[in-house]
Amino acid sequence: MKPVKVGLLGLGTVGGGTATVLKRNAEEIARRAGRGIEIDFIATLEPERAVELGVKDIRLTQDANEVVNDPNIDIIVELIGGYSPAKELVLQAIENGKHVVTANKALIAIHGDEIFAKAQEKGVVVAFEAAVAGGIPIIKALREGLAANSVEWLAGIINGTGNFILSEMREKGRDFDDVLAEAQALGYAEADPTFDVEGIDAAHKLSILSSIAFGVPLQFDKTYTEGISKITQEDVAYAEELGYRIKHLGVARRTATGIEQRVHPTLIPKGRLIANVNGVMNAVLVKGDAVGATLYYGAGAGDEATASAVIADIIDVTRTLTTDPENRVPHLAFQPSELADTPIVGMDSVETAFYLRLSAKNEAGVLAEVTRILGDENISIEAFIQKESKQAGENVTIILLTHRVNEGDMNKALAQIEALSVIQGDVMRIRVEELS
Ligand code: HSE
Repeated sequence: MKPVKVGLLGLGTVGGGTATVLKRNAEEIARRAGRGIEIDFIATLEPERAVELGVKDIRLTQDANEVVNDPNIDIIVELIGGYSPAKELVLQAIENGKHVVTANKALIAIHGDEIFAKAQEKGVVVAFEAAVAGGIPIIKALREGLAANSVEWLAGIINGTGNFILSEMREKGRDFDDVLAEAQALGYAEADPTFDVEGIDAAHKLSILSSIAFGVPLQFDKTYTEGISKITQEDVAYAEELGYRIKHLGVARRTATGIEQRVHPTLIPKGRLIANVNGVMNAVLVKGDAVGATLYYGAGAGDEATASAVIADIIDVTRTLTTDPENRVPHLAFQPSELADTPIVGMDSVETAFYLRLSAKNEAGVLAEVTRILGDENISIEAFIQKESKQAGENVTIILLTHRVNEGDMNKALAQIEALSVIQGDVMRIRVEELS
């Protein structure tokens, strides 16, 4: 059988990894796919990258439209990233009857519903394993491996840059900015680092996981998103003292009233496996009603690790070239006509425990006032730390760990506490998840 012809859009970190691994493992990949897979045409604005990567005998262009409109190409692999022109190119490829493989989480999270509808209409596949958690086959696991289950919840460390920063802050006492610069130099961070540190990248990935887990349309805009930029060295140390680690988690949970979809820093008990996932590594914990808790761990970014997921998709698409569109694995796991309109719930009704850090004047009655407010809002305290002040008249830091509480009640209590004249600045709050 003649080899499948791939058109590659982008020869950056992941594009380079894809070209390298496809070449290195060509023989074994052909044995798995049932036919050869060849990159036939590459669009890149940096032709010198091709020389650097030793790419020979492959057509090159600076105009991605030429690749998308080339009749010899069977599969378009979009590794440009971002919303535009990636969206236009992907839609044009689908219009031309080509299958698409992409690593673009922003594109799928925001425009996935439109792209999948168009792919359905044209009878082509859009595969996106590399969009979430780099090399970890989490889309495949959720969509196929766990297909028997009703998923109860999932929680993931799905941004390697954020995890790298928090790990370095904890292990080496390094500064936030210094670690971020290193992550950028290593090629882990997004072009715009606010996507990593403010949780947008994780929210893109979480909305994809949530859709596949619960059979609902993609709803990035309803994902509660909070980053790690306000976490201090002190918070990392106090969490440790209380027996927890701070991780930037994406959590999606099925509840009686809807689906929780939230990304925020979270205290996790130190002993949990996921609390020990460090550096740029990613991990996703999925709780299914039949299988129980399952954990998926691996590299969430990097050239060859992400290429591993891209090429697995290319092989999958190659295998399905001969199956009719109705009998393929649905893009969002559930048949398109069976997506549910279960609402994404507002944060006010979410229940978690909380870590609170307050800076207070060191005088009589302050603590009594704070605990009275918490008590009035039905918030019970689980643990408490107060460090003695080094100098007379200096503010003291108070750390409180609460029992599980409704977020709306916590917001009411914090507004009252922050209004007290003896409390300085905002109260730092980090949600706590036992993940048991
Ligand atoms: N910036 C992303 C991360 C890259 O740090 O996880 C992989 O999606």
